[in-house]
Amino acid sequence: MLIRPRRLRENPVIRKMVRETRVSSDSLILPLFLEEGENIKAPIASLDGQFRYSPDRVGEAIENALSHGVDKVLLFGIPKEKDEKGSSAYAENGIVQQGIRKIKEEYPAMCVITDVCMCEYTSHGHCGILNGKTVDNDATLIALAQTALSHVQAGADMVAPSDMMDGRVYAIRSKLDEKGYQDIPIMSYAVKYASYFYGPFREAAGSAPGFGDRRGYQMDWHNAKEAAKEAELDIKEGADIIMVKPAMSYLDVVKEVSSHVNLPVAAYSVSGEYAMIKAAAKMGLIDEYGIMCESAISVYRAGADILISYYANELADAIKKGDIG
Ligand code: PBG
Repeated sequence: MLIRPRRLRENPVIRKMVRETRVSSDSLILPLFLEEGENIKAPIASLDGQFRYSPDRVGEAIENALSHGVDKVLLFGIPKEKDEKGSSAYAENGIVQQGIRKIKEEYPAMCVITDVCMCEYTSHGHCGILNGKTVDNDATLIALAQTALSHVQAGADMVAPSDMMDGRVYAIRSKLDEKGYQDIPIMSYAVKYASYFYGPFREAAGSAPGFGDRRGYQMDWHNAKEAAKEAELDIKEGADIIMVKPAMSYLDVVKEVSSHVNLPVAAYSVSGEYAMIKAAAKMGLIDEYGIMCESAISVYRAGADILISYYANELADAIKKGDIG
């Protein structure tokens, strides 16, 4: 007898009934860039359609996201002043701290997650405090814990360390617990590769390393087993959500990690993924909407529970329309 898989593809109602991957806009997080200053809504050349906002105008981005049904943002800060030690990362009135207060005051419904790292704040652009030409892991832990605490004190709902120092989840967890913030979750960039796909972000955030690269602390993209090791370590240290980054070229890693851990897994579809789709669409080579939908679903299909994407608003619309999900 001829087996006919096409029976379940014949019409849209049946096709939707048998979809194996279901998504909801509740699982989307929108990255957002804050810049110190006033009255700024500056287009980011490397990320077509994305902007840097000063705290007084960030409400425009928040309102827009909420109107699409996206109620989680991941904040990055671009400070006016950088120094060797990245001290503006944990300044009480630093750019991210200002932004958090503004958002939480006016839009308490928005869940504010903050990226915890030093690279946007150090004059040398590395993700921690230097000792000669290398990043001093243990000295950096103190600054990271202080940064996370200052974000939480300003009102952040969750912190997301992205620096790739060993032991940072434990350092942050201990500091938050000590200060009475034991209920604030940590979403760890546990599995973060030293990726070329971050290129457009570094232009957006002005955080490219001034010398060398990040291979001394971010993961080597030849490795997949190591992903489970990094995830396990962060779970032991107290992480609540495990992130894999980037997403698109790392779907095998998303799968490996999601089958290995019993925590929610987030995947970050990074700047290079977004910029490539935008550029190819601009050249008329691809259908932007279709590629956006298909690549997002591939990340969920690989096992991600949460997707961080510059397309979060547009993906929420696509879900609402029933094109995906
Ligand atoms: C900070 C950080 C980076 C990204 C997120 N957090 C840059 C880097 O590690 O160089 C990249 C995000 C993106 O490319 O969209 N360390």
